[in-house]
Amino acid sequence: TSVLVLNGPNLGRLGVREPDVYGSDTLADLAGACVKAGTELGLEVEVRQTDDESQMIGWLHEAVDAGAHVVLNPAAFTHYSYAVRDACAMVTKAGLTLIEVHLSNPAAREVFRHTSVVGGVSTGTIAGLGREGYLLALRAVAART
Ligand code: DQA
Repeated sequence: TSVLVLNGPNLGRLGVREPDVYGSDTLADLAGACVKAGTELGLEVEVRQTDDESQMIGWLHEAVDAGAHVVLNPAAFTHYSYAVRDACAMVTKAGLTLIEVHLSNPAAREVFRHTSVVGGVSTGTIAGLGREGYLLALRAVAART
């Protein structure tokens, strides 16, 4: 079972970006924890990050074509990208699991973060639990396959 763990804009800056909000783990730390958890769960996990919307959409298309499940932190795309939303819809309509993950709890932050255009086409959403959220999402994927 393959899982793409996809991270959107500015998440390559984890560790230096607002550590009070996002913690002190770097993306490499997070990626290492995801790959390790994947091995334990029998999942083939690949972690990627992009600041580019077109790249993100391409990866979601790739997930559909490859039959890979997705753990997605859409970052700011969450709040406004209908294009990312439509690509996510293709993943879940293909019968694949797509878990939306946020390190912080957007519901406890600025009002513009309270809307997720991705949530309605996701299998489920996990927010506010830091790196643990990604690991829980991988457990959910494993439990569903
Ligand atoms: C985020 C929350 C988003 O509102 C924000 O734009 C991010 C990160 C999170 O992981 O908490 O970049 O998705």
